[in-house]
Amino acid sequence: MITLKNDTQLAKMRSAGHLLYDVLCAAREFIAPGITTMDINNFVDEKIRKGRGIPTELGYCGYPASICASIDDEVVHGIPSKHVRVEEGSIISIDVTLALDGWQADSCFTAPVGEISEDKKQLIRVTEECFWKGARMAVDGNRIGDVSAAVQQHAEAHGYGVVRDLTGHGIGKEMHEDPSVPNFGTPGRGVRIRRGMTFCVEPMIAMGHWKVHQLADGWTIVTNDHKPAAHYEHTLAITNGLPELLTYPGFSWDRLPKGENNI
Ligand code: MF3
Ligand code: CO
Ligand code: CO
Repeated sequence: MITLKNDTQLAKMRSAGHLLYDVLCAAREFIAPGITTMDINNFVDEKIRKGRGIPTELGYCGYPASICASIDDEVVHGIPSKHVRVEEGSIISIDVTLALDGWQADSCFTAPVGEISEDKKQLIRVTEECFWKGARMAVDGNRIGDVSAAVQQHAEAHGYGVVRDLTGHGIGKEMHEDPSVPNFGTPGRGVRIRRGMTFCVEPMIAMGHWKVHQLADGWTIVTNDHKPAAHYEHTLAITNGLPELLTYPGFSWDRLPKGENNI
């Protein structure tokens, strides 16, 4: 069931989103060669709680940590560990969900650790571009397939694989609500997008093939070919124009650089 949000509810989701933005900006600064993924987890957990939020990944379906930290061929749901140090040349995706006053926000970025290869830089850049191309289709009257197809087209134009096993999703009082927002699909198909909907667009893009599997820890998703993957996510609110990015305060569509790599 898709729940539409009224202005009061949207204001609460905006507050949650803005807290998450502050937390993720700080996390990005915190990442450095030599720290462990558990250091990042603890840093983020503390920041969320200082902002009176609740880290809702912790305990979600039994998930044992407050963030997902996925390195290189790990696509999503990497479990933080005090034994895993982030190394120069790696890329790391930090995916965090929190609740504030009962309302959820969900966002993820992939960052370089120190100096990385040109092909990893391009993977991160194109994954973010996939997000922008998909997100700008999230307007009243369009369909979810318009978002999905825009993401897929851009990724595949670069020869990348679109991970199919996981999708974006509605969000509100729950972390995961309807509708599902796949990163592959057909324009004009799927659920119609309406004002008041809130959902996450989150391309998970592999440098190689899209096929993935889960590790024995029951969570971590890695690419079958062990090529790196990147992930970028924001929580969107559908308005009467282009969507509002609840997890990106101050963002304006006018400021997104235009050109062949963007929109
Ligand atoms: N933040 C994730 C998402 O984008 C969900 C995390 S799964 C959890 O949907 F188990 F870590 F909570
Ligand atoms: Co997420
Ligand atoms: Co999500």
